[in-house]
Amino acid sequence: MIRRTLLAALLLPALLPVLTSDALAQSASSSPIVIKFSHVVARDTPKGKAADKFKELAEAATKGRVKVEIYPNSTLYKDKEELEALQLGAVQMLAPSMAKFGPLGVKEFELFDLPYLFSDRASLERITNGQIGQDLFRKLESKGITGLAYWDNGFKVLTSNRAMRVPADVKGLKLRIQASKVLDEQMRSLGVNPQVMAFSEVYQALQTGVVDGAENVPSNVLTQKMHEVQKHLTVTNHGYIGYAVIVNKKFWDKLPADVRGQLEGAMKQATEHANKIAQQENEAALEAIRKSGKTAVHVPTEAEKGEWRKALLPVHKAVEDRIGKELVAAAVKAASGK
Ligand code: LMR
Repeated sequence: MIRRTLLAALLLPALLPVLTSDALAQSASSSPIVIKFSHVVARDTPKGKAADKFKELAEAATKGRVKVEIYPNSTLYKDKEELEALQLGAVQMLAPSMAKFGPLGVKEFELFDLPYLFSDRASLERITNGQIGQDLFRKLESKGITGLAYWDNGFKVLTSNRAMRVPADVKGLKLRIQASKVLDEQMRSLGVNPQVMAFSEVYQALQTGVVDGAENVPSNVLTQKMHEVQKHLTVTNHGYIGYAVIVNKKFWDKLPADVRGQLEGAMKQATEHANKIAQQENEAALEAIRKSGKTAVHVPTEAEKGEWRKALLPVHKAVEDRIGKELVAAAVKAASGK
């Protein structure tokens, strides 16, 4: 031990010039600008694939002036930490789900969690591509964050070890939710005990019975192997999961204008890719879950769908005070296209 310390002490002065010149080379203008992009899901998901696509497009468009490092599966940070890391500049880019902006103080993003708000993609795009989507991004600026794009994922299913045909079947269950008060209200209105938990902890919590079940999109259920520890899945499509791609504002504003333009172009194309693959990825995931034979998949009948809607639509009114009465009304109007 002592010998090793001694050796290090002796070698350090010799290494110093090398270290210093390395550091200098790093800071030289020829070294690439690094974008650390952290996310919590698997690579093989709509978000994971879109992030990889952005890396490929961004590095090509900037001819190597920018290097994008992707850290999937919460390898760098979990849900809450990643937002703090972005604000501190420890990472430059994230794509958290819209349900995760409440703890940041921008609770209006939780409007995306309103049950049965969107009927289809067009209905969603009237919000993300419209005034509401723009206004939400503007709210991030004071938090030191710039919003770049909205990436789609899909509609949520419910999983647990109990068959869940109608709302009465979930009463008394303990279900994991993301950190959104709208989701909390949604679960309480069903008589469910909601448990906020980071995405990276869900599989183990389901496996050990810390929670009875969860809600998520099929692509997340499959890639986290949640279906292997859940006997039942109901295709309720009661809510939505999508993402806001965000960057550290200071970092983004300081980029050379031409580089920023190239990155914006890459983001536009990556967004088109994300929104093109999301639905088919989730359909394929649901099919793979069904084929695994580990989980019984139930698609509600029209009458059952009616019961879920009836139980969940009052949530819109219950959360008006949190999100804003006018904003809820505007979102419902925009989503309906009327
Ligand atoms: C979740 O926490 O369930 C999702 O937001 C994970 C994700 O990013 O899709």
